Amino acid sequence: MDSNNRILLTGGAGFLGSEVVDQLVSTGFPRENITCPRSAEFDLRDANICNDLVAKHDIIIHLAAKVGGIGFNQKFPGELFYDNITMGINLIEQSRINKVKKFVFVGTTCSYPKFCPIPFKEETLWDGFPEETNAPYGIAKKALGTMLESYHQQYDFPCAYLIPVNLYGPRDSFHLEHSHVIPALIRKFTAARESGEKSVTLWGDGSPTREFLFVRDAARGIVLAVQNISEPIPINLGSSEEIAIEKLAELLKDMIGFSGEIIWDTSKPNGQPRRKLDISRAKEIFEYSGETSFQDGLRETIAWWEAHKGEF
Ligand SMILES: NC(=O)c1ccc[n+]([C@@H]2O[C@H](COP(=O)([O-])OP(=O)(O)OC[C@H]3O[C@@H](n4cnc5c(N)ncnc54)[C@H](OP(=O)(O)O)[C@@H]3O)[C@@H](O)[C@H]2O)c1
Repeated sequence: MDSNNRILLTGGAGFLGSEVVDQLVSTGFPRENITCPRSAEFDLRDANICNDLVAKHDIIIHLAAKVGGIGFNQKFPGELFYDNITMGINLIEQSRINKVKKFVFVGTTCSYPKFCPIPFKEETLWDGFPEETNAPYGIAKKALGTMLESYHQQYDFPCAYLIPVNLYGPRDSFHLEHSHVIPALIRKFTAARESGEKSVTLWGDGSPTREFLFVRDAARGIVLAVQNISEPIPINLGSSEEIAIEKLAELLKDMIGFSGEIIWDTSKPNGQPRRKLDISRAKEIFEYSGETSFQDGLRETIAWWEAHKGEF
Protein backbone atom coordinates (compact mmCIF):
# COMPACT_ATOMS: atom_id res chain seq x y z
CA MET A 1 0.00 0.00 0.00
CA ASP A 2 1.50 3.35 -1.12
CA SER A 3 2.60 5.33 1.94
CA ASN A 4 1.72 8.57 0.07
CA ASN A 5 -1.98 7.70 0.43
CA ARG A 6 -3.89 10.14 2.62
CA ILE A 7 -5.73 8.23 5.33
CA LEU A 8 -8.91 9.36 7.08
CA LEU A 9 -9.07 7.47 10.39
CA THR A 10 -12.41 8.20 12.05
CA GLY A 11 -12.33 7.63 15.79
CA GLY A 12 -8.54 7.96 15.52
CA ALA A 13 -8.26 9.67 18.90
CA GLY A 14 -10.11 6.85 20.66
CA PHE A 15 -8.92 3.72 22.43
CA LEU A 16 -8.45 1.51 19.35
CA GLY A 17 -7.87 4.43 16.96
CA SER A 18 -4.83 5.79 18.78
CA GLU A 19 -3.21 2.32 18.58
CA VAL A 20 -4.02 2.12 14.84
CA VAL A 21 -2.28 5.49 14.33
CA ASP A 22 0.86 4.20 16.07
CA GLN A 23 0.89 1.04 13.96
CA LEU A 24 0.26 2.83 10.66
CA VAL A 25 3.18 5.11 11.45
CA SER A 26 5.43 2.18 12.37
CA THR A 27 4.42 0.50 9.07
CA GLY A 28 5.69 3.55 7.14
CA PHE A 29 2.66 5.87 6.74
CA PRO A 30 3.81 9.42 7.58
CA ARG A 31 1.84 10.81 10.54
CA GLU A 32 1.02 13.95 8.55
CA ASN A 33 -0.86 11.80 5.99
CA ILE A 34 -3.24 10.48 8.67
CA THR A 35 -6.25 12.64 9.65
CA CYS A 36 -8.12 11.87 12.88
CA PRO A 37 -11.22 14.09 12.98
CA ARG A 38 -12.65 14.82 16.45
CA SER A 39 -16.43 14.78 16.98
CA ALA A 40 -16.53 18.29 18.48
CA GLU A 41 -15.37 19.75 15.16
CA PHE A 42 -16.42 17.06 12.66
CA ASP A 43 -19.72 15.42 13.62
CA LEU A 44 -19.86 12.44 11.26
CA ARG A 45 -23.64 12.22 11.57
CA ASP A 46 -23.61 15.17 9.14
CA ALA A 47 -23.30 14.01 5.49
CA ASN A 48 -21.81 17.33 4.33
CA ILE A 49 -19.01 17.09 6.89
CA CYS A 50 -18.34 13.50 5.79
CA ASN A 51 -18.22 14.58 2.15
CA ASP A 52 -15.68 17.34 2.83
CA LEU A 53 -13.46 14.95 4.79
CA VAL A 54 -13.70 11.96 2.46
CA ALA A 55 -12.98 14.10 -0.64
CA LYS A 56 -9.48 14.88 0.69
CA HIS A 57 -8.49 11.25 1.39
CA ASP A 58 -7.61 8.03 -0.45
CA ILE A 59 -8.20 5.44 2.29
CA ILE A 60 -10.94 5.56 4.90
CA ILE A 61 -10.66 3.52 8.12
CA HIS A 62 -13.96 3.91 9.96
CA LEU A 63 -13.65 3.34 13.71
CA ALA A 64 -15.77 6.21 15.05
CA ALA A 65 -18.70 4.84 17.01
CA LYS A 66 -20.90 5.42 19.97
CA VAL A 67 -19.94 2.55 22.32
CA GLY A 68 -20.38 1.54 25.97
CA GLY A 69 -21.04 -1.31 28.39
CA ILE A 70 -24.39 -2.92 29.31
CA GLY A 71 -25.61 0.03 31.43
CA PHE A 72 -24.82 2.52 28.66
CA ASN A 73 -26.54 0.30 26.07
CA GLN A 74 -29.68 0.16 28.23
CA LYS A 75 -29.73 3.92 28.73
CA PHE A 76 -29.01 5.11 25.17
CA PRO A 77 -30.37 2.51 22.69
CA GLY A 78 -31.71 5.16 20.29
CA GLU A 79 -28.43 7.05 20.06
CA LEU A 80 -26.51 3.80 19.69
CA PHE A 81 -28.62 2.83 16.68
CA TYR A 82 -28.92 6.28 15.06
CA ASP A 83 -25.36 7.55 15.52
CA ASN A 84 -23.70 4.33 14.41
CA ILE A 85 -25.83 3.67 11.37
CA THR A 86 -25.84 7.33 10.26
CA MET A 87 -22.06 7.79 10.51
CA GLY A 88 -21.53 4.59 8.53
CA ILE A 89 -24.11 5.36 5.84
CA ASN A 90 -22.69 8.87 5.34
CA LEU A 91 -19.08 7.73 5.12
CA ILE A 92 -19.71 4.72 2.87
CA GLU A 93 -21.88 6.70 0.44
CA GLN A 94 -19.42 9.62 0.29
CA SER A 95 -16.56 7.16 -0.19
CA ARG A 96 -18.39 5.59 -3.15
CA ILE A 97 -19.07 9.01 -4.69
CA ASN A 98 -15.46 10.10 -4.19
CA LYS A 99 -14.09 6.76 -5.47
CA VAL A 100 -11.77 6.13 -2.51
CA LYS A 101 -9.12 3.43 -2.91
CA LYS A 102 -10.23 1.49 0.17
CA PHE A 103 -12.84 1.62 2.94
CA VAL A 104 -12.09 -0.43 6.07
CA PHE A 105 -15.02 -0.90 8.44
CA VAL A 106 -14.79 -2.18 12.00
CA GLY A 107 -17.90 -4.00 13.21
CA THR A 108 -18.61 -5.76 16.49
CA THR A 109 -19.29 -9.20 17.99
CA CYS A 110 -22.45 -7.63 19.48
CA SER A 111 -23.93 -8.24 15.99
CA TYR A 112 -23.95 -12.02 16.48
CA PRO A 113 -27.15 -13.81 17.54
CA LYS A 114 -27.73 -14.10 21.30
CA PHE A 115 -27.58 -17.89 21.19
CA CYS A 116 -24.97 -18.30 18.49
CA PRO A 117 -23.25 -21.71 18.29
CA ILE A 118 -19.73 -21.57 19.79
CA PRO A 119 -17.33 -20.63 18.28
CA PHE A 120 -19.06 -17.78 16.37
CA LYS A 121 -18.50 -18.28 12.65
CA GLU A 122 -18.92 -15.32 10.30
CA GLU A 123 -21.56 -17.13 8.22
CA THR A 124 -23.90 -17.25 11.28
CA LEU A 125 -24.04 -13.44 11.76
CA TRP A 126 -27.65 -13.26 10.54
CA ASP A 127 -28.91 -16.51 12.09
CA GLY A 128 -30.73 -14.86 15.02
CA PHE A 129 -31.48 -11.71 17.01
CA PRO A 130 -28.57 -10.29 19.11
CA GLU A 131 -28.70 -10.18 22.92
CA GLU A 132 -31.33 -7.49 23.61
CA THR A 133 -29.11 -4.85 25.29
CA ASN A 134 -26.61 -5.09 22.40
CA ALA A 135 -29.16 -5.17 19.58
CA PRO A 136 -29.40 -1.46 18.58
CA TYR A 137 -25.60 -1.19 18.35
CA GLY A 138 -25.04 -4.65 16.89
CA ILE A 139 -27.77 -4.41 14.25
CA ALA A 140 -26.69 -0.90 13.15
CA LYS A 141 -23.17 -2.25 12.65
CA LYS A 142 -24.12 -5.38 10.75
CA ALA A 143 -26.53 -3.44 8.53
CA LEU A 144 -23.45 -1.43 7.48
CA GLY A 145 -21.75 -4.73 6.63
CA THR A 146 -24.67 -5.45 4.29
CA MET A 147 -24.33 -1.95 2.82
CA LEU A 148 -20.68 -2.70 2.03
CA GLU A 149 -21.62 -6.03 0.41
CA SER A 150 -24.26 -4.36 -1.78
CA TYR A 151 -21.86 -1.54 -2.78
CA HIS A 152 -19.15 -4.05 -3.60
CA GLN A 153 -21.60 -6.02 -5.73
CA GLN A 154 -23.08 -3.02 -7.58
CA TYR A 155 -20.16 -0.54 -7.71
CA ASP A 156 -17.13 -2.76 -7.15
CA PHE A 157 -16.53 -0.76 -3.97
CA PRO A 158 -13.11 -1.73 -2.49
CA CYS A 159 -13.64 -2.45 1.19
CA ALA A 160 -12.99 -4.67 4.20
CA TYR A 161 -15.25 -5.65 7.13
CA LEU A 162 -13.58 -6.72 10.38
CA ILE A 163 -15.32 -8.02 13.51
CA PRO A 164 -13.06 -7.69 16.56
CA VAL A 165 -14.04 -9.41 19.79
CA ASN A 166 -14.05 -7.45 23.11
CA LEU A 167 -10.89 -5.36 23.33
CA TYR A 168 -8.83 -4.35 26.35
CA GLY A 169 -5.56 -2.54 26.94
CA PRO A 170 -3.94 0.78 27.85
CA ARG A 171 -5.95 3.95 27.02
CA ASP A 172 -9.28 2.08 27.27
CA SER A 173 -12.24 4.02 28.66
CA PHE A 174 -12.28 3.74 32.46
CA HIS A 175 -15.35 5.99 32.66
CA LEU A 176 -17.73 4.86 35.42
CA GLU A 177 -20.75 4.69 33.08
CA HIS A 178 -19.25 3.88 29.67
CA SER A 179 -16.51 1.38 30.37
CA HIS A 180 -16.39 -2.27 29.32
CA VAL A 181 -15.88 -5.14 31.74
CA ILE A 182 -12.06 -5.24 32.09
CA PRO A 183 -11.48 -1.51 32.79
CA ALA A 184 -14.58 -1.45 35.01
CA LEU A 185 -13.24 -4.34 37.12
CA ILE A 186 -9.72 -2.86 37.29
CA ARG A 187 -11.11 0.48 38.44
CA LYS A 188 -13.42 -1.08 41.05
CA PHE A 189 -10.82 -3.44 42.55
CA THR A 190 -8.10 -0.75 42.64
CA ALA A 191 -10.41 1.74 44.36
CA ALA A 192 -11.64 -0.92 46.83
CA ARG A 193 -8.06 -1.95 47.68
CA GLU A 194 -7.07 1.68 48.30
CA SER A 195 -10.08 2.52 50.45
CA GLY A 196 -9.98 -0.80 52.36
CA GLU A 197 -13.50 -1.88 51.25
CA LYS A 198 -14.63 -5.32 52.46
CA SER A 199 -16.49 -6.17 49.25
CA VAL A 200 -17.06 -5.18 45.64
CA THR A 201 -20.44 -5.66 43.96
CA LEU A 202 -20.47 -6.71 40.31
CA TRP A 203 -23.30 -6.96 37.79
CA GLY A 204 -24.96 -10.29 36.92
CA ASP A 205 -24.04 -13.74 38.24
CA GLY A 206 -20.55 -14.07 36.72
CA SER A 207 -21.55 -17.01 34.50
CA PRO A 208 -21.26 -15.42 31.01
CA THR A 209 -18.07 -16.06 29.09
CA ARG A 210 -16.11 -13.61 26.97
CA GLU A 211 -13.11 -13.62 24.69
CA PHE A 212 -10.71 -10.68 24.83
CA LEU A 213 -8.21 -9.32 22.36
CA PHE A 214 -5.37 -6.99 23.31
CA VAL A 215 -5.89 -3.62 21.59
CA ARG A 216 -2.46 -3.70 19.91
CA ASP A 217 -3.31 -7.05 18.29
CA ALA A 218 -6.62 -5.66 17.02
CA ALA A 219 -4.83 -2.62 15.56
CA ARG A 220 -2.37 -4.91 13.79
CA GLY A 221 -5.32 -6.78 12.22
CA ILE A 222 -6.76 -3.50 10.96
CA VAL A 223 -3.47 -2.44 9.36
CA LEU A 224 -3.17 -5.88 7.74
CA ALA A 225 -6.69 -5.47 6.32
CA VAL A 226 -5.80 -2.02 4.92
CA GLN A 227 -2.89 -3.67 3.12
CA ASN A 228 -4.46 -6.96 2.04
CA ILE A 229 -8.28 -6.99 1.87
CA SER A 230 -10.52 -5.44 -0.81
CA GLU A 231 -13.84 -7.23 -0.40
CA PRO A 232 -16.33 -7.06 2.47
CA ILE A 233 -16.27 -10.67 3.65
CA PRO A 234 -16.81 -10.41 7.43
CA ILE A 235 -13.59 -11.43 9.21
CA ASN A 236 -13.47 -12.17 12.96
CA LEU A 237 -10.46 -10.87 14.89
CA GLY A 238 -9.92 -12.57 18.23
CA SER A 239 -7.58 -14.43 20.54
CA SER A 240 -9.64 -17.64 20.60
CA GLU A 241 -9.50 -17.84 24.43
CA GLU A 242 -12.80 -17.94 26.31
CA ILE A 243 -13.02 -17.01 30.01
CA ALA A 244 -16.00 -16.81 32.42
CA ILE A 245 -16.58 -13.35 33.92
CA GLU A 246 -16.42 -14.91 37.40
CA LYS A 247 -12.95 -16.31 36.67
CA LEU A 248 -11.85 -13.02 35.11
CA ALA A 249 -12.99 -11.15 38.22
CA GLU A 250 -11.04 -13.51 40.51
CA LEU A 251 -7.94 -13.19 38.31
CA LEU A 252 -8.05 -9.37 38.33
CA LYS A 253 -8.81 -9.26 42.04
CA ASP A 254 -5.62 -11.27 42.70
CA MET A 255 -3.48 -9.32 40.22
CA ILE A 256 -4.61 -6.02 41.77
CA GLY A 257 -4.27 -7.25 45.35
CA PHE A 258 -7.82 -6.66 46.56
CA SER A 259 -8.44 -9.06 49.45
CA GLY A 260 -12.18 -8.48 50.01
CA GLU A 261 -15.21 -10.40 48.77
CA ILE A 262 -16.95 -10.29 45.38
CA ILE A 263 -20.76 -9.98 45.58
CA TRP A 264 -22.76 -10.73 42.43
CA ASP A 265 -25.85 -8.53 41.94
CA THR A 266 -28.10 -10.95 40.10
CA SER A 267 -30.82 -8.31 39.67
CA LYS A 268 -28.57 -6.81 36.95
CA PRO A 269 -28.37 -8.29 33.41
CA ASN A 270 -25.66 -10.73 32.39
CA GLY A 271 -25.47 -9.72 28.74
CA GLN A 272 -24.81 -12.36 26.09
CA PRO A 273 -24.38 -15.84 27.65
CA ARG A 274 -21.22 -16.90 25.77
CA ARG A 275 -18.77 -15.31 23.38
CA LYS A 276 -15.94 -17.01 21.57
CA LEU A 277 -14.97 -16.44 17.95
CA ASP A 278 -13.86 -18.77 15.21
CA ILE A 279 -10.76 -16.97 13.90
CA SER A 280 -9.83 -19.45 11.17
CA ARG A 281 -10.89 -17.08 8.36
CA ALA A 282 -8.47 -14.35 9.53
CA LYS A 283 -5.69 -16.93 9.84
CA GLU A 284 -6.38 -18.28 6.38
CA ILE A 285 -6.83 -14.95 4.56
CA PHE A 286 -4.05 -12.87 6.09
CA GLU A 287 -2.27 -15.14 8.56
CA TYR A 288 -3.69 -13.25 11.51
CA SER A 289 -3.98 -14.32 15.14
CA GLY A 290 -3.77 -12.54 18.50
CA GLU A 291 -0.19 -12.58 19.86
CA THR A 292 -0.28 -11.02 23.33
CA SER A 293 -0.87 -13.44 26.21
CA PHE A 294 -3.88 -12.57 28.38
CA GLN A 295 -1.74 -12.27 31.53
CA ASP A 296 0.75 -9.92 29.83
CA GLY A 297 -2.04 -7.79 28.37
CA LEU A 298 -3.82 -7.52 31.73
CA ARG A 299 -0.58 -6.62 33.50
CA GLU A 300 0.05 -3.80 31.00
CA THR A 301 -3.53 -2.54 31.31
CA ILE A 302 -3.42 -2.53 35.14
CA ALA A 303 -0.05 -0.73 35.06
CA TRP A 304 -1.52 1.89 32.71
CA TRP A 305 -4.46 2.48 35.04
CA GLU A 306 -2.19 2.72 38.10
CA ALA A 307 -0.14 5.37 36.28
CA HIS A 308 -3.12 7.37 34.97
CA LYS A 309 -5.91 7.01 37.52
CA GLY A 310 -5.08 10.39 39.05
CA GLU A 311 -6.19 12.04 35.79
CA PHE A 312 -9.77 10.71 36.12
N1 LIG B 1 -13.60 -1.43 22.50
C1 LIG B 1 -14.02 -2.64 22.12
O1 LIG B 1 -14.04 -3.60 22.92
C2 LIG B 1 -14.44 -2.88 20.69
C3 LIG B 1 -14.70 -4.21 20.29
C4 LIG B 1 -15.09 -4.44 18.97
C5 LIG B 1 -15.24 -3.39 18.10
N2 LIG B 1 -14.99 -2.12 18.51
C6 LIG B 1 -15.16 -1.03 17.56
O2 LIG B 1 -13.93 -0.34 17.45
C7 LIG B 1 -14.18 1.02 17.18
C8 LIG B 1 -13.44 1.89 18.16
O3 LIG B 1 -13.90 1.62 19.48
P1 LIG B 1 -13.18 2.22 20.76
O4 LIG B 1 -13.39 1.26 21.86
O5 LIG B 1 -11.83 2.69 20.40
O6 LIG B 1 -14.13 3.47 21.06
P2 LIG B 1 -13.78 4.94 21.57
O7 LIG B 1 -12.51 5.00 22.32
O8 LIG B 1 -15.03 5.44 22.21
O9 LIG B 1 -13.56 5.72 20.22
C9 LIG B 1 -14.62 6.01 19.37
C10 LIG B 1 -14.42 7.37 18.79
O10 LIG B 1 -15.54 7.66 17.94
C11 LIG B 1 -15.64 9.04 17.85
N3 LIG B 1 -17.03 9.45 17.60
C12 LIG B 1 -18.15 9.08 18.27
N4 LIG B 1 -19.22 9.73 17.79
C13 LIG B 1 -18.76 10.54 16.79
C14 LIG B 1 -19.38 11.48 15.92
N5 LIG B 1 -20.71 11.72 15.97
N6 LIG B 1 -18.61 12.12 15.01
C15 LIG B 1 -17.26 11.91 14.97
N7 LIG B 1 -16.62 11.02 15.75
C16 LIG B 1 -17.37 10.36 16.68
C17 LIG B 1 -15.20 9.62 19.19
O11 LIG B 1 -14.41 10.77 18.88
P3 LIG B 1 -14.19 11.98 19.94
O12 LIG B 1 -13.26 11.43 20.97
O13 LIG B 1 -13.58 13.06 19.13
O14 LIG B 1 -15.55 12.31 20.52
C18 LIG B 1 -14.36 8.48 19.81
O15 LIG B 1 -13.01 8.85 20.04
C19 LIG B 1 -15.69 1.20 17.20
O16 LIG B 1 -16.17 1.19 15.88
C20 LIG B 1 -16.19 0.00 17.96
O17 LIG B 1 -17.49 -0.37 17.57
C21 LIG B 1 -14.59 -1.83 19.79
